[in-house]
Amino acid sequence: MLNVDAMRKADKADTQDGAAVATSKPPVVEVLSASKTFGDGTQALAPVDLTIQDGEFLTLIGPSGCGKSTLLKLIAKLIEPSDGRLVWWRGGFDQVGSDGKKLAFVFQDATLMPWARIGTNVRLPLDLAGMAKDVSEPKVADALARVGLESFAKHYPRQLSGGMRMRASIARALVTNPDLLLMDEPFGALDEFTRNKLDADLLDLWWEKKLTTVFVTHSIYEAVFLSTRVAVMAARPGRIFKIMNIDEPMPRDERFRESPRFADLCRQLSGWLADASLPAARASHGDQAL
Ligand SMILES: Nc1ncnc2c1ncn2[C@@H]1O[C@H](COP(=O)(O)OP(=O)(O)OP(=O)(O)O)[C@@H](O)[C@H]1O
Ligand SMILES: [Mg+2]
Repeated sequence: MLNVDAMRKADKADTQDGAAVATSKPPVVEVLSASKTFGDGTQALAPVDLTIQDGEFLTLIGPSGCGKSTLLKLIAKLIEPSDGRLVWWRGGFDQVGSDGKKLAFVFQDATLMPWARIGTNVRLPLDLAGMAKDVSEPKVADALARVGLESFAKHYPRQLSGGMRMRASIARALVTNPDLLLMDEPFGALDEFTRNKLDADLLDLWWEKKLTTVFVTHSIYEAVFLSTRVAVMAARPGRIFKIMNIDEPMPRDERFRESPRFADLCRQLSGWLADASLPAARASHGDQAL
């Protein structure tokens, strides 16, 4: 049996200069010295300590293979840690259940059912939860409207562009009214213009609902634009290298993207990423406000 309080104390001691994020809100998920070694012996994650705060937009960034998806899957309860543990606060999460807190996962591919119309695709989690159609249909219409696809409920996925399919996938995630949104490189396959537009829309949605979000990307610009915190990860073994707080006011728009402050933050994050990619990257886990 693990001693959670002792682990939390260790987590605080590890943060540089004790600069842990001070917050009055309870956490949503605590990752407590959780590590992951897969069956074939690959050590994907060394022990990770991370607290996901209520209402934050946390982005994981780092070189390929540093364990971003593995950490996200641990948080999503899709896989179990090999050691350590995770604590889901406020009653825990069900993935598609109608009771309790819910989490939603958006993958890099839209993963829509090609034979089903967009409305049916978005309704899937509610159908799986056994919700009657007359109750679920208004929720589907609302979720489609929130991503700007209100006129496309009767279309098939093949009739939509890549960006629109990702919007549909986000609508499917939002339809359950989740408490935690997990997104693994959702816009990685899209052109930069579409990605910027979807980033801005995602930020508006996040702002409207204050929906706790954990997001994975390879894009420094996307990380700085969207996040309240960015966790830079390093590989071999996967771990959190540094955490950057981005205290820029919300909601953000194009003016932020074009500001000197944005450029400064991107430069700083780029430097950290380069350090994290060095073979001898020194493990350090500290929250740093810039
Ligand atoms: N199911 C699995 N079995 C064995 N090894 C795995 C499995 N899933 C991931 N790995 C390994 O664990 C490490 C971390 O993988 P993960 O997919 O979490 O990295 P990532 O940071 O998401 O990479 P990318 O940026 O390329 O998506 C890699 O070395 C990967 O090969
Ligand atoms: Mg990945």
